[in-house]
Amino acid sequence: MDAKLQRRIQRYGWDKAAVAYEAGWSEQLSSAQSRMLELARLAQGQTVLDVACGTGLVALRAATLVGPSGSVMGTDISDRMVQLARSTASERGVGNIRFERMDAEDLQVEEGKFDVAVCALGLMYVPDPESAVRELHRVLRPGGRAAVAVWGQRSRCGWAEIFPIVDSRVKSEVCPMFFRLGAGTALRDAFVQAGFGAVVSDRIETRLRYPSPEAACQATFAGGPVALAYDRFTDTMKREAHAEYLASIESFREGAGYSIPGEFVVVAGNKSESH
Ligand SMILES: C[S@@+](CC[C@H](N)C(=O)[O-])C[C@H]1O[C@@H](n2cnc3c(N)ncnc32)[C@H](O)[C@@H]1O
Repeated sequence: MDAKLQRRIQRYGWDKAAVAYEAGWSEQLSSAQSRMLELARLAQGQTVLDVACGTGLVALRAATLVGPSGSVMGTDISDRMVQLARSTASERGVGNIRFERMDAEDLQVEEGKFDVAVCALGLMYVPDPESAVRELHRVLRPGGRAAVAVWGQRSRCGWAEIFPIVDSRVKSEVCPMFFRLGAGTALRDAFVQAGFGAVVSDRIETRLRYPSPEAACQATFAGGPVALAYDRFTDTMKREAHAEYLASIESFREGAGYSIPGEFVVVAGNKSESH
């Protein structure tokens, strides 16, 4: 797919998903975000860049970890995500944080500016994720550290049928290469190729828990990457697509809701001191 088109789909799709995002995903993504923050080894006083920050779930945690002597910049391609993140930070009175709209492959940030760069569950949506990893490397100071989390192997993500279910109704190819980075050593390799050293990689198994079929559908259709295509569905298409998706996760039913398996890959590495 044309990279420009993919960026537009992401930008306007996440604008649509922004309001439903946290209800559908904040708990479900927290183990990946926590492991990524652990591997980032944040310390008081550091400067941190959070790429594809969404509503700021990670950036706000990072702001607490680096304390008032440190600072965090969150960037995202979606205006709506950036606005939501800004308003949450101001409601909570967090002073050491700011948010800007930016493409992960083209960070408007000078070289060597940050101690740490992170990106949680964002790189699957970027047309050329390897170039985004090179950008993370570029914006770090010598000796700086980056940590990234992505979804893991497709066969271990029980919700993965959402993509063909949506694509068969609205031909948008929302995320053509969604699971590429989660396979084998792809993300680790991207780190090594970008110049990172001492690269470590972890796979985490998780369960995505939803209390009801409605909550499972709301998260996956309205609060995630397919939100733009879903917005164009008629009511009948919505009903049929929900039924098809629920059939695809039927084996993960638990009580009145679902416990859907998932896998994350988390990778971290250092920029060399001699850069
Ligand atoms: C699943 S959300 C993750 C948000 C956040 N990092 C978190 O952990 O909650 C994915 C985010 O990636 C952003 N995104 C997609 N493509 C992007 C790109 N090319 N550049 C920057 N952000 C992008 C979306 O707008 C969305 O906010």
